[in-house]
Amino acid sequence: MNTNRLSTAMQTALNAQMTKEAHAAQIYLSYAAWASAQGFSGVANFLFRHAQEERNHMMKILEYILQRGGSVTIEAIPAPPANPSALQPCFEKVLEHEIDNTNAIYKLVKQSMEEQDWATWNFMQWFVKEQTEEETLALGLLDKIKIAGGAAASGDALYNIDRDLQGEPDDAELAQDKTADKP
Ligand code: FEO
Repeated sequence: MNTNRLSTAMQTALNAQMTKEAHAAQIYLSYAAWASAQGFSGVANFLFRHAQEERNHMMKILEYILQRGGSVTIEAIPAPPANPSALQPCFEKVLEHEIDNTNAIYKLVKQSMEEQDWATWNFMQWFVKEQTEEETLALGLLDKIKIAGGAAASGDALYNIDRDLQGEPDDAELAQDKTADKP
């Protein structure tokens, strides 16, 4: 009896997404190390914390594949891209990586719909929400640097951003959780 509740195509796609999340963790790790070396310890702290979030995403998918009776394949993780040249491009890259990951998640949702694999569709909804949060967080970073003066931000402004990011929560508050009393 076949006890694998995932199609071969879905198993392959989920394994690939697991590697993609591991890759995202490596990207955050390398940007964090870069930020720390530049003296931005608050930014580094934020990015290091985020690297762990990405590993958590990887683990969720790994556990899901196993729970559905599928096979997990641990693959090589591609090297992270080159270091950014400054804080603004760093935050722009973070948003780009998150949008890229959102697109990969949407593809998996689409595939689960086409296969009528409702368990995977349901599982992926957590990631759809998570990606909205991640993009909100990344857009917030870009807002901060824009207000600080963008590429021409002063040392004072960068100092303040760095200090703020040390205490920045890991999750952004989503529109669906807002109320008129608590905008
Ligand atoms: Fe796991 Fe930032 O996406």
